Amino acid sequence: MGRHAHRLDGIGSTIFAEMSALAVRTGAVNLGQGFPDEDGPAAVIDAAVAALRSGRNQYPPGHGTPELLDAVIAHQQRHYGLDLVREQVVATTGATEALAGALLGLVEPGDEVVVLEPYYDSYVAMIQIAGGIRKPVTLRAPDFRLDLEELAAAITPRTRLILLNSPHNPTGTVLNRSELEGVAALAIEHDLLVVSDEVYEHLTFGVEHVPVATLPGMFERTVTISSAGKSFSVTGWKIGWASGPADLVAAVEGAKNWLTYVSGGPLQPAVAVALDEHDGFHQQLARDLAVKRDRLSSGLAAAGLTPYRPDGTYFVTTDVSATGYPDGRAFCLDLPARVGVVAIPSQVFYDDQDAGRHLVRWAFCKRTEVIDEAVDRLSAADW
Ligand SMILES: Cc1ncc(COP(=O)(O)O)c(C=O)c1O
Repeated sequence: MGRHAHRLDGIGSTIFAEMSALAVRTGAVNLGQGFPDEDGPAAVIDAAVAALRSGRNQYPPGHGTPELLDAVIAHQQRHYGLDLVREQVVATTGATEALAGALLGLVEPGDEVVVLEPYYDSYVAMIQIAGGIRKPVTLRAPDFRLDLEELAAAITPRTRLILLNSPHNPTGTVLNRSELEGVAALAIEHDLLVVSDEVYEHLTFGVEHVPVATLPGMFERTVTISSAGKSFSVTGWKIGWASGPADLVAAVEGAKNWLTYVSGGPLQPAVAVALDEHDGFHQQLARDLAVKRDRLSSGLAAAGLTPYRPDGTYFVTTDVSATGYPDGRAFCLDLPARVGVVAIPSQVFYDDQDAGRHLVRWAFCKRTEVIDEAVDRLSAADW
């Protein structure tokens, strides 16, 4: 018997490294990977330093430190009117681990997982690791709305859960109340669980973010996931959480126990400070991002790349068909040398290659001068 490595599908998994290496090699402006180039609130970073200096450097409780659990509880109450107790929250190593824990804890081999496409890339790998089968429901250009008939058609007797992401990476779609009511009706009718990735919950531009767990009949079947990375510009901290009914949270925690056991001890109290005292940070961040979205979108439009205006997240998608490239990947591989900018071909986030072929994702969570430099370079392009 030959030795072989178990290979994950890993849609998109190498593209960020590939494009970032290209950016470094060519000196290109990197609008590829979605991380901010400015720090989170100084007081929150000070709180992390204080925790490091005050001896909080051993294993914290597996469930999460009490102050973080209480801060998540207060956050869900203040923003969404949800009443939780500590058994209904677990701290994780970023939203990534909360997603992993939810999929490993709730999906049995052979279960089908209905998931919005284009995917955040870890969904594909984690559904596969859990032994599940992904059933995509595609959000299509130009408006990337959820088609409830397609969602209904994706559900079969083998469906175990619906994996939602709103605000949605990479399209920037924020599911509205009527779309979520449609999801809820189907989840209830077919007795499905919902895992809802809401890491961009605070990064919306003039539209309301509605957690699906707030809809009637949904709390008891929903695991809601978020993290500090996007809201407080600390993507490297990897402190996240899952919340929901105690039995579902226990399933997440059961898997988490064998993934990392516990998460970032000194960072948890600092994230509690962020949640308790720094709503103003993400409110300002969202206002700034709305301006940057418009700045980058206008620049892309002027360069002949039709932008689709996102209502949330920090990504804008463009159609690059007019440039003559056969697809977004060829466009993105050429862009650093030709124009001096890096972007990500959205087709790596799709199974349905036709739906994603000409789409390219640009991150605008960058300083204004970085966006302006990218726009300047793009304006010189002659496709
Ligand atoms: C939709 C989505 N979910 C989850 C994550 C991962 O979050 P974290 O860094 O907290 O693990 C990201 C990060 O890019 C994301 O875009």
